[in-house]
Amino acid sequence: MRKNRKKITIAGCICFIVLWLGELEADQLELRRGGSVLISEGELPEPDVLQKKYLKGDTEEKSRQCREEVSVPLGQECSFCHNDDRTVFTENGEKAGKMMDASVAIGVTCDYCHSGKSRFTERKEIAEKMFELSEMMGVECDYCHAGKSVLTGEGKTAKTAMILQEWADNGSKKCLNCHVEKKQFELNFHGWEILNTQKGLLGL
Ligand code: HEC
Ligand code: HEC
Ligand code: HEC
Ligand code: HEC
Repeated sequence: MRKNRKKITIAGCICFIVLWLGELEADQLELRRGGSVLISEGELPEPDVLQKKYLKGDTEEKSRQCREEVSVPLGQECSFCHNDDRTVFTENGEKAGKMMDASVAIGVTCDYCHSGKSRFTERKEIAEKMFELSEMMGVECDYCHAGKSVLTGEGKTAKTAMILQEWADNGSKKCLNCHVEKKQFELNFHGWEILNTQKGLLGL
């Protein structure tokens, strides 16, 4: 137990130093809007990466997109999600709406993960873990993702933490060692202890 704690503390220290250096760099390089980092220099996304909505254009264009990019990869008829004039959405339709936001955040179309009725691509596993982490921490995908291959400042921090905590093997629960559930990565008592120790070490 003690040994474990020591390990966590050391991992935390490295984590913090990396974060702190990253933070300095971020302050110099990144464009911020409303306090959150959107994009960094050198990796400016394509214009449509920053789009807000999954379906674009007029009704006809949306219809085409819905048929080709939504119906086909899901292997479903229109009625799986909504009635003809889209005044009523089914439970799957509601879910699809959320999936559209997720897809915009990570800059992909549905076929990135879906390949026909009840089938998925090899991305399913990581996607499920990402859905679980987001749910557990009370954040949406765009908290960390700002389009294809672009991470927000928080996303970069999360990436460092994920590597240090061996998230891929250990899962999201380990994040709760230092963060509060459903509180968007707010630190818990242990997290604050670590942060203060690290600040002490750095003489801040
Ligand atoms: C997997 C679920 C799903 C399937 C299948 C689906 N849609 Fe949609 N569709 C949605 C969602 C969700 C929206 C709302 C998107 C939004 O709010 O921007 C939508 C919106 C639309 C819109 C735009 C509505 C508007 O007024 O802006 C059109 C047109 C449309 N769908 C046509 C179709 C057609 C035609 C099909 C079948 C070929 C189809 N959809 C199949 C989920 C689906
Ligand atoms: C990053 C991967 C990923 C992307 C991109 C993605 N999905 Fe999904 N989707 C999943 C996973 C994983 C599940 C099953 C787990 C769950 O239900 O949460 C799922 C489940 C669903 C479901 C529930 C019904 C079912 O068939 O299981 C709907 C509806 C859905 N997705 C629609 C969409 C639509 C529409 C898009 C594109 C706008 C989309 N998804 C894009 C990963 C993804
Ligand atoms: C707490 C931050 C965070 C949240 C929230 C988050 N992600 Fe991620 N995600 C990451 C990081 C970090 C990576 C690794 C990126 C890398 O290696 O450069 C990643 C990678 C991925 C990947 C694999 C890489 C790729 O582009 O294929 C997928 C798919 C993904 N995320 C989907 C999602 C979806 C869908 C959501 C919302 C349900 C989500 N993520 C929410 C941080 C996050
Ligand atoms: C050993 C303790 C510890 C663990 C475990 C830990 N973190 Fe952190 N995390 C921190 C500290 C310390 C900070 C810095 C907080 C600050 O500077 O205010 C932080 C900050 C963050 C932030 C930035 C939050 C913000 O508001 O900017 C994210 C995102 C994050 N961690 C994600 C994760 C994820 C994902 C995991 C699990 C894979 C994880 N952390 C596990 C200690 C930890």
